[in-house]
Amino acid sequence: MNIASQPNDIRDVIEADRAHVWHHLSQHKPYETVDPRIFVEGKGMRVWDATGKEYLDALSGGVWTVNVGFGRTSIADAVRDQLVKLNYFANSAGSIAGAKFAQQLISKMPGLTRVYYSNSGSEANEKVFKMVRQMSHRHHGGRKYKILYRDRDYHGTTIGTLAAAGQPQRREQYGPMPPGFVEVPHCLEYRSQYGAIENYGERAAEAIEEVILREGPDTIGLLCLEPVTAGGGVIVPPRGYWEKVQEICRKYDILLHIDEVVCGVGRTGKWFGYQNYGIEPDFVTMAKGVASGYAAISCTVTTEKIFAMFKDDADDPLSYFRDISTFGGCVAGPAAALENMRIIEDEGLLDNTLRMGERLVGNLNALMERHAVIGDVRGAGLFCGAELVSDRQTKEPAPEKMVQAVVADCAAQGVIIGATNRSLPGLNNTLCLAPALIATENDIDGITDAIGNALTKVFG
Ligand SMILES: Cc1ncc(COP(=O)(O)O)c(C=O)c1O
Repeated sequence: MNIASQPNDIRDVIEADRAHVWHHLSQHKPYETVDPRIFVEGKGMRVWDATGKEYLDALSGGVWTVNVGFGRTSIADAVRDQLVKLNYFANSAGSIAGAKFAQQLISKMPGLTRVYYSNSGSEANEKVFKMVRQMSHRHHGGRKYKILYRDRDYHGTTIGTLAAAGQPQRREQYGPMPPGFVEVPHCLEYRSQYGAIENYGERAAEAIEEVILREGPDTIGLLCLEPVTAGGGVIVPPRGYWEKVQEICRKYDILLHIDEVVCGVGRTGKWFGYQNYGIEPDFVTMAKGVASGYAAISCTVTTEKIFAMFKDDADDPLSYFRDISTFGGCVAGPAAALENMRIIEDEGLLDNTLRMGERLVGNLNALMERHAVIGDVRGAGLFCGAELVSDRQTKEPAPEKMVQAVVADCAAQGVIIGATNRSLPGLNNTLCLAPALIATENDIDGITDAIGNALTKVFG
């Protein structure tokens, strides 16, 4: 980065930020004495802050979003071209980029046919919940209204999606939550609820069935799951889990909603996380990687069968999906998403994700041999977690403060990593890695070297 090309009085910017910006997920008291971090430039896997310090970003923009890396001029050009031609029209009308991207997306998602645009992951998930509630009213006589979500999963920040959060610390102090949301158990074998059993995956799925039978299958409309749990600790579902989940949904006529807000568009080495498991969802939602953060876009994708339920009675003024997302009509979103998808295809980034993901897991496993504090390593593609424990036998979670010290030490070394935080009481102990899909071997080794150094410094 050429620091000379930065606004020459960065102090003013820092003071304006300190005085007026309310940062996400942040306790602001420390900013009274310490400068907030301000990023000013990004290129590929690297970002630079206002002081000129360079960082290797192992989190794709902090929250696993910038899948194709920073500084993509071809996406910026596509967005610019679109904006000067037509920046916006409410999505009750169509757009060229919107139609083209929907077609392109659907070509990667056999069995699904319809794309509903909005602009955040939370919103995309809320659309599903609203559709299910409307179907309950119109087609099930008020039955099948409950929404099942899983312990440790996260689906968004609005009150509706928080009601479906399996992360108690995210909900705390924001209640009361709306009714009709019911939790099912998590599927993290490392923290098995059933002891050391051989068929953990099947057992974890059966636990969902137990909840369905307790609540009454007739009351339940939807099961909402992350394909790989992200902020809840990078949980890759165990063998045998998904087959059984699909079977249970079919048996009790419950729709399956896969939240691909994190895993969607390449993160696990397939276009979508669920495609690793051969399942056939009724709804798929996505956001972060869809346009890699170059424009705001999210999609709620469903089947023709479900779509048909919203046009079956044209004489009924309430029968269609009466929902709008104003900025779902921003045409920059699908324009950026089209170019983002072209890059992933032309540069072979799905293959790269698989190869680099293997290297990342391999490096983390090697670190595990040298650092007793790593209790478990989990991953799918370029999405990995390392759970830190004080004792491998008892699996006592490492204290959150020490886990955060590892994150801080990596940042001091110039590598941005993450950790589960303010999600699960006593279990915010998993380091999280989600580098861009363009990562090279050197990048991966740089990330794990920094983690190794930090573990030695913090845990000895
Ligand atoms: C799995 C998952 N779903 C939904 C969301 C919410 O997305 P957004 O912050 O765009 O509303 C997130 C955000 O981190 C997420 O991880």
